[in-house]
Amino acid sequence: MVTAIIVGAGHRAMGYANYALEHPEKLRIVGVADPSPERRAMAAERFGLTPEQCFASADELTALPKQADAIINGTMDRQHVPTTIPLLERGYDVLLEKPFAISIEEVKALEAAAARTGRKVMICHVLRYAPFYVELKRRVLAGEIGKLVTLETAEHVSYHHYSTAFARGKWHREDQCGSSFLMSKCCHDLDLLTWYMSGVAPVRVASFGGLHYFTRENAPADSGEHCLLDCPIEEKCPYSVRQLYLNHPDRWVFYVWPELEESGDLSIEAKTARLKDPANPYSRCIWKMDNNVADRQSVVVEFADGTVATHNLVGGTSRPMRKIHLLGTEGELEGVFDDNEFTIRHIDTRPGHETREERINLADLGDTTGAFGGHGGGDGNLAADFVSLVDGGAPSISCTMLSDSINGHLIGFYADRAMREHRVIEF
Ligand SMILES: NC(=O)c1ccc[n+]([C@@H]2O[C@H](COP(=O)([O-])OP(=O)(O)OC[C@H]3O[C@@H](n4cnc5c(N)ncnc54)[C@H](O)[C@@H]3O)[C@@H](O)[C@H]2O)c1
Repeated sequence: MVTAIIVGAGHRAMGYANYALEHPEKLRIVGVADPSPERRAMAAERFGLTPEQCFASADELTALPKQADAIINGTMDRQHVPTTIPLLERGYDVLLEKPFAISIEEVKALEAAAARTGRKVMICHVLRYAPFYVELKRRVLAGEIGKLVTLETAEHVSYHHYSTAFARGKWHREDQCGSSFLMSKCCHDLDLLTWYMSGVAPVRVASFGGLHYFTRENAPADSGEHCLLDCPIEEKCPYSVRQLYLNHPDRWVFYVWPELEESGDLSIEAKTARLKDPANPYSRCIWKMDNNVADRQSVVVEFADGTVATHNLVGGTSRPMRKIHLLGTEGELEGVFDDNEFTIRHIDTRPGHETREERINLADLGDTTGAFGGHGGGDGNLAADFVSLVDGGAPSISCTMLSDSINGHLIGFYADRAMREHRVIEF
């Protein structure tokens, strides 16, 4: 039985903590630290916590002697390192959300604190736990495509997701949230590249991209400033907040309506009033925000053994999608996470043939979750693995200890610098 305290009771941490409800014999939540009284109350009710087990901040908790084995840290990006280092020093093992740091200096500080205290820090790279990516890893390790030559990955962030999290949402300005579009959205994909490379170090990075479409110059002619207040073309606009959020009331609820979620009033009237409040970023024209994160970015990485990886990130696509294509000396693996399916190909030298290929659907291997259900089941599997690790279990094939996550994060930080400074960055 492992005991844990939630630090930052947002939707991410609460999701992992739910493992305690499903497996009360393995995990017990024994506290919550969050400045929001509503979030504390929500956690207290769900996990049966007493007022003495509820803390107003990570600092308040850290000031006390150790209260549990571990921490589930689901605070926002800027708070990850400042809250985690004192918790490690207090003796807790920590499950930490990604991006686990917002700068290379923070990466180094956290690495040093983990080494100094000897505590475990595991990063929430949930895709490593999705059966689709695990099966690819298993096949790479088994040598089914020989030695990797190139890795190509892409993430297409849909129009509604990009609007909600990036153009209008919590990650729309790097100076406010601490993270670039690449780091907040794709540190998972960069982590997968390093995972498939199994410890081979990245040596140099180039990157191109920026913010080019969701800018004031591209606003449609005659558009207003606020969709529901003054926009004459709102009914025809795919980014109208009415189309995005009132016509699809279940979409991104935890991002768009956190106050309403806490008050319990998610009626269409309450939502409409919020979208008509000019102070609410979700009331504003997507082309007339003060956003400054990119809407596209391509990254090229060379590894020490000559393997080359590329990752393309696009915001505002019609379909959400993560693609991967691993090309090796003896074959290739190609698939779309959202289809829960990949193809393995080999050379076929028989007369009249060219390629031998087999399509693998994860459902046929027993995975019925697909890309849904919390990153293809990754969220739940990760929580289970963290509990086992804290309990003394051996790390699984997917386990993302801090030390394994560093190269992926460094690729992201260097790629952002390479894009900004128009140059190749050597590690
Ligand atoms: N692993 C993934 O795939 C994935 C997906 C989405 C988001 N994330 C990451 O998860 C993190 C949390 O995202 P979220 O949407 O759940 O955020 P959130 O805003 O819902 O939750 C953060 C919580 O931290 C609390 N908080 C603020 N200051 C605090 C302090 N000093 N001590 C304790 N708590 C404090 C806030 O009140 C809030 O309840 C972010 O870093 C985000 O990038 C990860």
